[in-house]
Amino acid sequence: MSDVAPSVIVELEHGVAVLTVNRPAALNALNSTVLLELEQAIAALAADPALRVLIVTGAGSKSFIAGADIVEMSGYTPQAARRFATLGHRVLAALEALPVPVIAAVNGFCLGGGCELALACDLIYAADNARFGQPEVNLGLMPGFGGTQRLARRIGAARAAELIYTARQVKAEEARTIGLALEVYPNAELLQKVRELAAGIASKGPVAVRAAKLAIARGLDAPLSVGNALEVEAFANLFDSADAREGMIAFVEKRTAQFRNA
Ligand code: CAA
Repeated sequence: MSDVAPSVIVELEHGVAVLTVNRPAALNALNSTVLLELEQAIAALAADPALRVLIVTGAGSKSFIAGADIVEMSGYTPQAARRFATLGHRVLAALEALPVPVIAAVNGFCLGGGCELALACDLIYAADNARFGQPEVNLGLMPGFGGTQRLARRIGAARAAELIYTARQVKAEEARTIGLALEVYPNAELLQKVRELAAGIASKGPVAVRAAKLAIARGLDAPLSVGNALEVEAFANLFDSADAREGMIAFVEKRTAQFRNA
């Protein structure tokens, strides 16, 4: 057995998993080892029928993820950089494609690749000490794990460009104002608040929540008319699910629905 702490820790309870990036000595910076462990953890979560909601956070109280590992990158050739960026994109695409809602609980520095990872999550909640940013130009670099794409889609192209060109760090309250973070909580309360939110989502009809997530994701990549047509199909298909029947009958019978994820 290895005595090296894993870089990624996953705990699943009552359908809610908490994935912690665990490299606090480097503010949870993403090196190749962490990315590969993340990839394995996400694949295992994707195959777990008990999963309803995933929360992603960083170990320690100071940092969510302070970016891609600069020490590792400092020795890269363009070929190595392409492999690294491709790996980062693959991992974040897998996170984004999880069928259940994914929530980033941002407990401190959320910079570069860390901000890009948060942007691959459906929802972002911030601690009051959170700092968001894409500081790559400080290093003579640019975002490489999707920041130019997902940040522009999340907060608009002009604001994304401003943050990327200036490398400015955004405090939690401003992150909320510009639509990056949905709410801000005291750092000591963040995980509990996000767990409560996740438990609420986990109590809803799981088939419906997954269908809604897919409709939002697919629709964002399509013209409105196509997205609306996708929604009609997804809505209609839910009437084949036992959970939709149970949910509506429970309403009529004035009782709490017992969803079976079917
Ligand atoms: N890569 C590697 N190590 C990192 C790191 C990173 N991104 N961020 C922090 N660390 C390490 C530091 O080197 C330091 O290690 P040592 O104790 O061994 O010296 C440790 O974490 C603690 O960091 P600091 O002493 O710097 O802590 P601080 O509180 O003084 O500063 C900080 C915190 C402002 C976040 C600062 O660490 C910092 O600026 N980090 C770099 C942030 C950054 O530029 N991120 C973008 C990376 S590029 C990228 O992500 C490209 C991409 O899109 C794929």
